[in-house]
Amino acid sequence: MRKMVAERVVAAAERPELVPETPAHAAALDQVLNRAFGPGRFAKTSERVRERGAVHRLDVSRTALLAGTPIGCCRLHDIAIGAEAALLLGPLAVDPEHQHDGLGAALVAGAVEAARREGGVIILVGAPAFFAPLGFTQAPPGRVALPGPVDPARLLWLELSDGALDRCAGAVTAPRAATRT
Ligand SMILES: CC(C)(COP(=O)(O)OP(=O)(O)OC[C@H]1O[C@@H](n2cnc3c(N)ncnc32)[C@H](O)[C@@H]1OP(=O)(O)O)[C@@H](O)C(=O)NCCC(=O)NCCS
Repeated sequence: MRKMVAERVVAAAERPELVPETPAHAAALDQVLNRAFGPGRFAKTSERVRERGAVHRLDVSRTALLAGTPIGCCRLHDIAIGAEAALLLGPLAVDPEHQHDGLGAALVAGAVEAARREGGVIILVGAPAFFAPLGFTQAPPGRVALPGPVDPARLLWLELSDGALDRCAGAVTAPRAATRT
């Protein structure tokens, strides 16, 4: 009996915990991102948006911790779409040793839930098969312009407050000039 209780305690301790990201996670997450994406990590168009001044939002980004060690993340960045404030999702990564166990979907769901309080829109470039069950749909082709090539079928978005999608059109830029209505 005592052994069964002990096994349950160990199993609970081994379940990843999702927490807001902090600067203390940065070094370990850098390694996770390198392992998950490989050498193509910085070649993505969404990376061009981030390096042009998108602001990393630690408070609504989520880190998966296993026994205190970061093993995955879903980051959100403040951006603007035209004049409208929005969030860019990514990078999303789970350490290859811990993939295929629902953690990627849980990280996205956790970050979306955190962002829902402030409303607006989340956009991303990613696989529709993975993101559609989490509520994302394809942005209408031509509505949103990213600084680089994107397969329109992979440009996805999610509305967090009523009417927000209708206001989003134009270039994705740094958030300086944007308003959240
Ligand atoms: C994408 C990623 C975060 C998913 O993490 P995960 O913890 O395995 O996710 P889940 O367990 O919640 O879901 C896994 C399922 O998602 C689907 N999936 C994952 N990546 C996919 C992709 N690129 N295209 C389509 N479906 C995908 C598969 O159906 C997979 O099912 P399986 O486990 O039966 O193979 C992880 O594979 C990863 O880090 N990949 C490398 C980085 C990357 O591509 N990030 C996403 C950029 S948009």
